[in-house]
This record gives sequence, C-alpha cells and structure tokens, in this order.
Amino acid sequence: MIKLGVNIDHVATLRQARGGKEPDVLEAARAVRKAKADGVTVHLREDRRHIQDADVKAIKQKVKIPLNLEMSLNAGIVAAALEIQPEKVCLVPERREERTTEGGLNVVGDRERIKPVVEMLKGKGIVVSLFIEPDSAAIEAAHGTGAQFVELHTGAYANAFITDDAALWKKELIRLHNAAQEAHQKGLGVNAGHGLNYENVEQIVKIPHIEELNIGHAIVSKAVFCGLDKAVKEMKKLIEMHTPSGSA
Ligand code: PXP
Repeated sequence: MIKLGVNIDHVATLRQARGGKEPDVLEAARAVRKAKADGVTVHLREDRRHIQDADVKAIKQKVKIPLNLEMSLNAGIVAAALEIQPEKVCLVPERREERTTEGGLNVVGDRERIKPVVEMLKGKGIVVSLFIEPDSAAIEAAHGTGAQFVELHTGAYANAFITDDAALWKKELIRLHNAAQEAHQKGLGVNAGHGLNYENVEQIVKIPHIEELNIGHAIVSKAVFCGLDKAVKEMKKLIEMHTPSGSA
C-alpha cells in the first residue's frame, strides 16, 4: 500500500497568523498519527514562516511517527537537521518570495552542492530524498548524488487537473509515469507530492513504483470543516481504494 505522509505546515501557518500557541502543531502531529497516517511531514523554511525549530524537535521527541523534514541546502537548516535527526529528509529548492515550493531542485546545476549534504545526512542514518521535476535529466543527476529516494513534483499535473484540458493533465500524468519507471529502474525509491487532493489523487495512486505521497494543503483545508482525523482517514481510504490490486 502507498504510504501517506501528512504535511502539517499549514497548522503552523494558522498559529503564526496570531503568534500564539493555537492551533498546536504537536497536537496536529498526534492527531495525524492517531488517524493512522504513515508519517508527518514539515518544512522548516529559512524564513521560519510557519514551522519553527521547536516544532520539529517536539514532534521528533514526543510523537511516535516517522518524521519527514523538507528543507533547503542552507547551512543553518542542514545543521538543525543533523541535530534533530528526523527519519527522513526531502531536499527542496527554496525561494523567499514564493508562496510554496514552486519547482523541483536544480539537481543538474547544483549536484556538487547537493552531494555533500546528502552524504552528511545519510551519515546520521537519515533517509534522503530529492524533490525533483519528473524528467530524465533530474533523475539521472539525483541518482548521482547518492540520495535513496526522489519525490516527484506533482504540481504541474495538479495545476492541469483543475483546467478543462484533459489532454494536458494526461500528458503530465504520462510524464510522472515515465519518471517513476525511470527512477525505479535506477534503484531509486519513488515518492510524489505537491498539489494533490481528494479529486486528483486517484490517478497518482495508479502509477507503479510510488511508495509514498506527501499531502498537506488539501488535508488541512478539509480538516477546517471536519477535523484532522476524518480528513486523514478519508485520504487514506482513497489511496487504499484506488491502489491497483497486486501492487506492493
Ligand atoms: N512535497 C513537498 C516536497 C513539498 O514541498 C510540499 C509543500 O510543502 C508538499 C509535498 C505538499 O504539498 P501540498 O501542501 O500542496 O499538498
């Protein structure tokens, strides 16, 4: 069964809007665990716009669930990751002015910067994944860094899905299929995420070799109306329902 990592950044976004303690990010991580998600994902941004260092530490220390830390190559953030030692790290590009992570890493151009970070993290027993565009050059370069996983950026597919242009989202879906196949053939584990929701996840679940989906905004948005427990369980149910029989 494909695993579900729930990104709870936007619980922290709501908290930061007032600067107090509510809603409690730790409580959110506990709710995600209770709803039987397979992991919690947080992005410790350089500008600390939502998740704070203390949140990452508290989740790691107090909640028994695999923690996936999304992070840039920034030296201070790398130092924090080496200290906190989450189970997994996903290296992402970061631009200060962006609303969310807009594209995959430039693995081809930044390979020499990425490699030593991957090595340091792996040295601490952390499983490393690179957030990449679903294309051959990025997969080839990711393979060369020593990372064990790639996370395929599903944003272009998700953006195409909300248009009426079925040919466009199908084209993006084929790119994701091909990339998953190619990464798998190189011995890389395959995750996927960004912009996935209760409508568009069905097609993604059917892509062979995907091991984990990281989903945040859609789940937290639904949770506003029905609570995190129900929102997580519904996503898990969809993943289960649409996973082709015989898949690992
Ligand atoms: N995966 C990665 C690498 C991300 O940067 C994000 C956004 O923080 C997600 C998954 C989740 O995206 P969304 O919030 O759109 O579900």
